[in-house]
This record gives sequence, C-alpha cells and structure tokens, in this order.
Amino acid sequence: MDDFRNKVVYQIYPKSFRDSNGDGVGDLRGVTEKLDYIRALGADYIWLTPFFPSPQRDNGYDVADYCAVDPMFGTMADMEELLREAEKRGVGLMLDMVFNHTSTAHRWFRLALAGEKRYQDYYIFRDGPPDAPPTNWQSKFGGSAWEYVPGLGKWYLHLFDVTQADLNWENPAVREEMKNVIRFWQGKGVRAFRFDVVNLISKPDTFENDMEGDGRRFYTDGPRIHEHIRELVRDTGLAGAVTVGEMSSTSLDHCVRYTQPQNGELSMTFSFHHLKVDYRNGDKWQLQPPDLTRLRELFETWQTGMARGGGWNALFWCNHDQPRVVSRFGDDGRYWKESAKMLALCLHLMRGTPYIYQGEELGMTNAYFDRIEQYRDVESVNYFRILTASGMDRRQVMEILRARSRDNSRTPMQWNDTPNAGFTSGTPWIGVSQRNPGANAEAEEKDASSILSFYRRLIRLRKTHPIIARGDIRFLCQDQPGVIAYRRALDGAELTVICNFTAEEITVPDFSGRGEAALLLDSYERPPLIQASGIRLTPFEGCAFLQ
Ligand code: GLC
Repeated sequence: MDDFRNKVVYQIYPKSFRDSNGDGVGDLRGVTEKLDYIRALGADYIWLTPFFPSPQRDNGYDVADYCAVDPMFGTMADMEELLREAEKRGVGLMLDMVFNHTSTAHRWFRLALAGEKRYQDYYIFRDGPPDAPPTNWQSKFGGSAWEYVPGLGKWYLHLFDVTQADLNWENPAVREEMKNVIRFWQGKGVRAFRFDVVNLISKPDTFENDMEGDGRRFYTDGPRIHEHIRELVRDTGLAGAVTVGEMSSTSLDHCVRYTQPQNGELSMTFSFHHLKVDYRNGDKWQLQPPDLTRLRELFETWQTGMARGGGWNALFWCNHDQPRVVSRFGDDGRYWKESAKMLALCLHLMRGTPYIYQGEELGMTNAYFDRIEQYRDVESVNYFRILTASGMDRRQVMEILRARSRDNSRTPMQWNDTPNAGFTSGTPWIGVSQRNPGANAEAEEKDASSILSFYRRLIRLRKTHPIIARGDIRFLCQDQPGVIAYRRALDGAELTVICNFTAEEITVPDFSGRGEAALLLDSYERPPLIQASGIRLTPFEGCAFLQ
C-alpha cells in the first residue's frame, strides 16, 4: 500500500493550466508538456479535475460521460500518453469522480426524460404539481434545488446547477455503474481518486421541508453514507489506493470515520471549516476580515481531533473553488513573498497530506477583475444576479466577487510574464489575473529565494524528516491573537512551527529557552530575532525549528 502520509498532491485544473493547441483552452497535452515542472517541484500525484465530456455548465463537474475525454481537452490517446509519461517520472494521476450527480446531458438522464422508468430510478424524481416543489431545499448555486419537468409531471433534485441532476444512490444499479467507472479508469492504470462532494450522496428516505436551513442537514453525511463508501471501496479494490473525499459541511466525527484505516473507506478527507472564517454569519456572500482566532481554533480542533481518532486530513488552502490564499490570508502587495511562504510553511508542516493548487506555488493572486463580463463561473454569474436583484449596490457586488468568486483561482497558470502568461498563443477562455505578473514559473525557477523554491524545499523536507509525516501535534500560544503555532513530536525529536498571520510585529514568549533548536525554514529566509522575552516575528513571518 502506498503510504499517502508522506506524499504531496498537485492539483491541475486543465482548462487553465496549459493550452497546447492555441484554442484558448488548456488541454491534456498541455499537462503532459509540463510534467517535468511538476516532477521538479517534487509532487507525487497530480489531481486532475474533470476532463470528461461535458456541456461545461460547471466547468466539467457536469459530466455527460464518465469514461471518455471531452474533445476540448484532447483524446483518449492523449490521456493514455499523459498517464505513461507521468508514470515514467514517478508521478501518479488522481482522477476526479463526480458521483453525486451527472449532467442532464448524460445518456441516463436523457433516457429518464424520454420516459424510461429504469433510468428515472437513477435520479431523484418526485411527483407533484408544477407550482410546488417537493421541498423548500436550496441549490448550492442559488435558487430551488428542484426542477420541474412538464413532460413527465415530475420534479428532479439538483443540489447544484439545474443541469446537474442528483443520482439515486439507493438504487443498486447506480452503485454498480459507479463501480464500473472506477474499474474503467483502473484498467487504464489510474490508482488514485478524488470523490467530489461524496458526503452528499446518501439522501434520506423521505423528503421534508427544512424549517431551519437550506436542506443540507438532511443529506450531508446522510443516513447510509458510510455504507455506500465502504461498498464502493470494497468492490473496486480501492482499499490500497490513495483516495480523498471532498466533504461538504461535514463534521469531525464523520471525517474520523471516513478515514480510520480499519473502516475501509477513504485515505483522507477535505473539509472546509477553516475556509469559512472570513464569511460573515457563515454566508459566503458577506465579507468580513478573517477571524484568525477562529482559524487557529479550527486547525487545533481538526488536527488534534483527527490525530486522536486515527483519521487523516488532506491539508489545503487553495483549490479551483477557493480564492487565492495569498490574497485572502496573506498580503498580496507589500508582503507578497513573505506571506505566501509563511502560509505554505504553516500548512505543510501540519499533520496530513498537503495539496498544492496550480499557481499557489508561485504565489499567484486573485484575479482582480472589475467587470462582470470577465467572470465565467456559473456560481459567480448566478450570485451577481441574485445579489443585485436583492437591491445590493452593483459596486458592492463586484467587490464581493473580487474576494469570493471561484474564478479567482481559475485564471491562466502563469508560466512567464508575456500578456497571456505563456498559457496560450490564442485568446484565453478567461482573462489572466490582473495583479503580479511577476508570479510566474520562468522567473521563479531562476530565483533561489522565490516562493516556488520555498515550496520545493518544503516538499523535500517531508521526504527527509519523518516527523513531518508521522509526528503527533500539539498547539502552542493559544492565547496570542494572530499567531498559529504548534509542535510536532516523533521519537524524541521535536519540530516547532510559529507563524505570524498579521502585518504587525509580534513577540511570542513561549519560545524562550529553546536556543538549541536548529532553524529549518523561515519565510524571510533568515533567522528570526530571539530575545530574552521570546521570539520576535516580523509581519507575516513564519519559521520552523527542529531539535
Ligand atoms: C465540488 C467541486 C465544484 C463543483 C461542485 C459540484 O464542490 O469542487 O467545483 O462545482 O462540487 O460538482
């Protein structure tokens, strides 16, 4: 079995990574072209977000055929070549399995619409009058989670876009179809899988209105969720593979169960609580500065809770759904380099498997778009409409999108500082980020003090110091606002990490007396100042000591 604890995963959003044929859209050959870059970084796996045939309403998370390649990304032969070339370099591919829903363009859904009972049972259809959806549940992309089909006189459930119909996992035939998808890709040599919003697949037997919320409490970590995951893993022999489940609004207890090795479920889980500390009242569309105390508490709860329960975390700041971390929790202006490095250090030395989202290792920033026409994401476009219709000032809506839109992470990967960032020779499907063209691979590869070089070092350290993958974790400095500090321990060795998440200087008293420890890394590339009163951290300084 592959020990996923000392691995690092690099996430590629192919649409925005590298366009090999000049049509403005990234493709699989583009990924193959850049494999040496990923190998040089030191990542073990590439998580490829969906490249399957899709109408692209939700950029490929609306899958119309799980066992083929969308012509926009290339051919099956390109995919096989990518697999071969990656393997030659010791890099594995992790494919993204979107099993909660299919696109309404999927053959199964089309047959359901055509009246085939067998395929109607693949989805969640409910009878009802056209003016009354079966429940008041809300779609995660805004509006009702139900859509009426006049021809059938039935409603179908879609927790996401109206073109993403939820599958009926209570139907054994659906579960068999999903296993066959995994077997198909295993047959091509794929050994690692990510499961999209997998904790939403188990719906309750009866559907009722939610008087307290949007319906999520009825289907999140739903009634038969562990059973479904265990069956899928057992019947496809995935127990020895590297697997990660994306868990929406989940709980620590469930994540421990999803990842305890004896349960035969998943290697690790993505959870999102730490990425909601800048949501006001839990609402993504209301801005507030990050609550750093809450951030620290959440890391402590999840890190120590998962360790106690014998579970395993996926560690991440960024993905294709999140704004860029340096713009979010760092400072993408004055302290761009220092804060990007501090954030990386803080995350990578915790207990779990780190994920790096394309461009994060370069310190890529948010998009800073200023016109609604620049946005592409269905969620951003929907919420622009919803928020302006609710009476919110257009300028304020644009400011919210600038901070929150998923397009912040979907701008083209910055390979160099030419106008299209070396992503395409054509017109990119989405504009390049309007901030910091200096955050690019060509410049950073030559610079030993670049953010890229720092990420490379962090990955190497994981491979040379077992304490990073295997040590326990204990949090320090709990009452120091703006500081996240922790200590890892293994076989008498100790690794201490102290990070300043603010633009102020901070003295951390806890550290005094540890003079014999050796500096491993510092986001300023020099030792921090150690005084009798403690360790003095400059703005966004993060450092790690080993003893
Ligand atoms: C996950 C994906 C996101 C997608 C959603 C629906 O959250 O990461 O991009 O929109 O699932 O599939």
